[in-house]
Amino acid sequence: MKSNRCEVVAARLDDTGAGVGEAEGYVVHAADLLPGERAEVVIDHESPHKREAWGRVLRRLGPPSPDRVAPACPAFGLCGGCVWQHLAYPAQLVAKRHRVVEALARVAAVAEGRVTIADVRPSPLDLGYRNKGKYVAGLDEAREHVVLGAYAPRSHRVLDTLGCKVVAPIIDEVASWLRGAAEAARLIPYDEKHHAGELRYAVVREAGGDVLVALVVAPGTSRAKLAQVAGTLAKHPAVRGVVAIDNDRRDGAIIPTGARTELLVGEGTLQEELAGVPVDVGPGEFVQVNRAQSHALYRRVTELAQVRPGMRAIDLFAGIGGIGLHLARAGASVVAVELDREAVASLEASVERASLPLTAIAGDAGDLPATARVALGGSAEVVVVNPPRKGLSSGARDLLLGLAPPTILYVSCGPEALGRDLVALAIAGWEPDVIEPFDLMPGTPQVETLVRLRRVSG
Ligand SMILES: C[S@@+](CC[C@H](N)C(=O)[O-])C[C@H]1O[C@@H](n2cnc3c(N)ncnc32)[C@H](O)[C@@H]1O
Repeated sequence: MKSNRCEVVAARLDDTGAGVGEAEGYVVHAADLLPGERAEVVIDHESPHKREAWGRVLRRLGPPSPDRVAPACPAFGLCGGCVWQHLAYPAQLVAKRHRVVEALARVAAVAEGRVTIADVRPSPLDLGYRNKGKYVAGLDEAREHVVLGAYAPRSHRVLDTLGCKVVAPIIDEVASWLRGAAEAARLIPYDEKHHAGELRYAVVREAGGDVLVALVVAPGTSRAKLAQVAGTLAKHPAVRGVVAIDNDRRDGAIIPTGARTELLVGEGTLQEELAGVPVDVGPGEFVQVNRAQSHALYRRVTELAQVRPGMRAIDLFAGIGGIGLHLARAGASVVAVELDREAVASLEASVERASLPLTAIAGDAGDLPATARVALGGSAEVVVVNPPRKGLSSGARDLLLGLAPPTILYVSCGPEALGRDLVALAIAGWEPDVIEPFDLMPGTPQVETLVRLRRVSG
């Protein structure tokens, strides 16, 4: 661009929450600029490949958007977490639906009006809904006090996120006890730059009012210090257990699969409830963070599956069984496939406890060995897929097409990957007849989409 300053009117929001407008023939992304707002923007970064640039507001030039609200969190704008907290909740829902509409624009049934995209179902809670807090440990600027928080965007500086309004209040309370306990025990926060120190991350999980704390530490961390921290936390009435997890990775993984876990105090799991079944959850297992809304989603999946007693269903990417247990509870005979062995063990224990007709298989849905394919059997009436954000791998898509069910239920947290997969499924003969977005993460651009597809040819 000619200079590093320009005037921008935001027309829309991108998926990081920045306002997007045009200046000097460039697409400019400006943090904290809502649609309709005008500002002088300072450019921090320009794409070397295309006419696109990223910057921040230097001076506001017009009135604020009527949808601008005061963000709830003290670290808003710094922590990089809930980038839409300054946008009124109804406007967030409209923007989330717009994201789905754009992502699915190339799906023929959508483009030709044979199916409509429903309004986004709002979350019952728009604050305090997260059942898990993830914290990076660091030191404050004076390098005197322990800070628990998040990396400032594009840096190794840790911002204090205690006081976060998005986690359940009990999580914030226990995290602040942890900060004090870590400091009292002289636990040294890990320094990512020099790969030295002890406490790397903390994960604080809540279920049914109980809290589990995982201290993710560099191998060799003083066990005496960890015992002291755990002893302090155990005095909090909600803390049910504290574990230490070794992590020597340099790739940003917080709880690496198969990491050594040591129980420091109490119990190493919490109990969630899914479809009325008690489910043991460890610190690392995938659980949807918004409990009330994810349960509404699971119930809707079950309704759309039109379960009849004895009906065969397959749940791919099953996790600890949020969907599979609901289908089995409604009377389906379910086979579930999940990569994470600990999640499979938890699912097996739940099934045994509740005597439900569900078989869990540990494996990669994109590369299942022949024996596991036999266990899946043929002729399932419904196959549910709930892959990670990047959508179906070609192997998982082939598995799905090979199963050739009359009905597919696709639950997606990645609208763009969903659009790509729906185009591929349409070519193979499946057409969507229901598209319902759900908001599981208020304050963020994230949106979950539930799609039912029927086989119309092939
Ligand atoms: C979005 S979560 C959905 C979990 C579950 N359906 C729920 O609602 O709680 C995706 C799950 O897929 C699992 N997963 C990721 N890659 C996988 C693969 N290649 N094969 C099977 N499972 C996989 C993850 O471990 C995770 O549990």
